[in-house]
Amino acid sequence: MPFSHSVPSYRDDIDLAIDLGTANTRVLLRDQSLAFDEPSVCCFAGDRTGNRLLAVGFAAKEMQGRTFGDQHIVRPLRDGIVHDLDAGRELLKHAIRESLPRRRFGAPRALIGIPADATKAEYKALLTIAQDAGLRGVEIVAEPVAAALGCGISGNDPRGSLLIECGAGTTEIAVLASGRIALRKSLRGGGFALNTAFIDYMHSQHSFRIGDSTAEKLKLETLARINSQDDVVEVAGLNVERGRPERVNVPILGLSFILERYAIELSELVADILNDVSPAIYEDIVESGVVLTGGGAVAPILVTSIGCRTRLNVRVADDPLACVSKGLGEIAFRRH
Ligand SMILES: Nc1ncnc2c1ncn2[C@@H]1O[C@H](COP(=O)(O)OP(=O)(O)OP(=O)(O)O)[C@@H](O)[C@H]1O
Ligand SMILES: [Mg+2]
Repeated sequence: MPFSHSVPSYRDDIDLAIDLGTANTRVLLRDQSLAFDEPSVCCFAGDRTGNRLLAVGFAAKEMQGRTFGDQHIVRPLRDGIVHDLDAGRELLKHAIRESLPRRRFGAPRALIGIPADATKAEYKALLTIAQDAGLRGVEIVAEPVAAALGCGISGNDPRGSLLIECGAGTTEIAVLASGRIALRKSLRGGGFALNTAFIDYMHSQHSFRIGDSTAEKLKLETLARINSQDDVVEVAGLNVERGRPERVNVPILGLSFILERYAIELSELVADILNDVSPAIYEDIVESGVVLTGGGAVAPILVTSIGCRTRLNVRVADDPLACVSKGLGEIAFRRH
């Protein structure tokens, strides 16, 4: 692997710790303060002959669903990986510009996270946009290593721990010991794939077309009311058969299957990984339990469902959305 699957040795020349996520990008500075936290979105105008950047981050997210003419929204990352080099470079440039003082001498150096299963080509794509965005030196580390440090698992502890990082584009399950990934399994797909499943469900079961932001709201509403299976939730969208905007009442029962399927898939991956760990590490994990990090970790169904199926204690990390950026900060800015 061209990037580190363990806590890299301390370097005192890193200026920025960057969690470049499929949904959100966060930047920490040397004093561990959060300098940037915006959606990973760009808006361009133009066609194949040339694109002009209109907006990045919050400003681009505002334009989502409101573009016209040759304007288009681009998410630079897909499944946790840089997918559009131009948009990725612009997002990084914006994040760096917003994080550092305007008058600064020399190009900055950064530590950036990447999914543990990224290929060499995917790693190179990240290096390319980092260099194009003006970073002078870049160190890249597997995100589960950062997430572990960010949720309080010590990089020096030889005992095994099991972590699930539930992002928008990837879900990574990792067994770590002594700050190193011992075993891992990944799902390319996470919170955004769930949104797509809600869009598909509304189309196939109710002939309704809904957009990304409605799907995100519907997912959060279903999560909040998952124990009220008799309830219905009102959804606004385009009735495809009648060709007009309408509202429909959708039973929570049908929607909750989408979330249960994801929880079952994760439980099966955890069971698979536990089959492969040594008896000593298995005992460590039974003792310490499973930790959930990332935005998707907030979903209570994961705690109950994975707990029931694996018979392990499952807990959500404090401030789960910030674990990867905090862990990158630990690696980049603290001697250990
Ligand atoms: N309360 C919540 N319940 C469930 N999911 C949530 C909640 N809050 C945020 N999310 C989901 O978390 C995801 C964003 O999490 P996060 O910022 O960790 O992802 P990311 O780092 O951008 O993605 P990745 O690491 O996969 O590239 C979104 O899919 C969002 O729907
Ligand atoms: Mg992430």
